[in-house]
Amino acid sequence: MAASGEGDAVSRRGTTPLTLDDLERHPLKGAAVALRADFNVPLYPSGTREPAAGGEVADRSRIERTVPTIDRLAEAGAKVVVLSHLGRPGGRPNPALTLAPVARCLADLVSGPVRFVPHTSGSEVRKAVADAGPGSVTLVENTRFLPGETANDPALAADWATWADHFVLDAFGTAHRAHSSTDGLPRAVRAKGGMAVAGTLIERELAVFAAVLEEPRRPFAAVLGGAKISGKIDVIEALLPRVDALLVGGAMANTFLRAMGMETGTSLVEEEKTSIAWEVMAAGAARVVLPVDCVTAGEIAAGAPTRVVDRAAIPPGEAVGDIGPVSVRLFGEYLAKAATVVWNGPMGVFEVDGFGEGTFEVARIAAAAADRGATVVVGGGDSAAAARAAGVASRISHISTGGGASLELLAGRELPGVAALSGRRSDREA
Ligand code: 3PG
Repeated sequence: MAASGEGDAVSRRGTTPLTLDDLERHPLKGAAVALRADFNVPLYPSGTREPAAGGEVADRSRIERTVPTIDRLAEAGAKVVVLSHLGRPGGRPNPALTLAPVARCLADLVSGPVRFVPHTSGSEVRKAVADAGPGSVTLVENTRFLPGETANDPALAADWATWADHFVLDAFGTAHRAHSSTDGLPRAVRAKGGMAVAGTLIERELAVFAAVLEEPRRPFAAVLGGAKISGKIDVIEALLPRVDALLVGGAMANTFLRAMGMETGTSLVEEEKTSIAWEVMAAGAARVVLPVDCVTAGEIAAGAPTRVVDRAAIPPGEAVGDIGPVSVRLFGEYLAKAATVVWNGPMGVFEVDGFGEGTFEVARIAAAAADRGATVVVGGGDSAAAARAAGVASRISHISTGGGASLELLAGRELPGVAALSGRRSDREA
């Protein structure tokens, strides 16, 4: 079980992880492969983002995206043992967050049967793996039912490594977390001579983000939205020198308007970040494009009376809930010319009736850009949900399965889960 091809510079930037192609050079028949997936999916009842006991999977897209990796390993004869978290149960079992519904969904999607083990670690899991046959698929219970998961407890990683011959990371959405199943386990597997490699989902995600960040076709436009500038400062700073246009929407645009001295009513504004917003505008000059009009209301609630106002005329008692139609046209002009588009974060409170049109229009315009050949990458759960709600998701070049993880990549950082994999020096370094 020699880990040939292991680089010694795995945690450094400039390394790329080994992949399934590399793993398949080893005999996998009967080998136990721990596959870390991100099955953190919404469960019914829909309409709420809170999982409910007894619920079924409401959105299978994350699960579907890992099926090629599972099927490929199973076809190679591996005993595939899938690990995932679901929600944030805080280190203790919570029946509302069991992976049992995910196991039922997975069984519909993969080629063979799926066995669900209602335990996360220890002798029950060891026995299930020992009993499993070549080509089998086993899903164990929510990794976050154990406190050692988020604490990256080496004892938990060592327990899993007692049965794991190799490790595959396909959990792009969780690759920015250094947890026991994303960091400790791959390192423990490698320490015992196994390989820790990227699955096909991770491979594609990394390739897409590397392409847009390193060699974007121009013009390159980034659309950033969402509530806060504070969570995206690093992304803005990393993207600004690379893009031809940075289109800013969502509540984070309010902080920019405030920095320009405008009245923002009762809108969400990060007063302490106005100086950063100002610096971004100074550094980006004409490349930073802000909304010129907004949809406002006394209360951001479904059915609340709204009005469209110029950004310089936001009423004192009202809050901005969306970008306005003139802003949509303005953003559209940049997106119509762009050959590369990266979009992360909604333009408004799109999940509330009356405040979604700006976001949905941007989704439609982004899809039209993809139709005429632009590379359009959508990251972040909200933007992906908006693209689906607008009915254009299938036309987008790439919808990332990771929100936080894609922001980390856009900010130029390496993901801990990827750094823990067996790596090779990048072609550029070689
Ligand atoms: C996600 O859905 O963003 C990932 O599964 C990560 O979940 P977390 O933010 O709870 O770590």
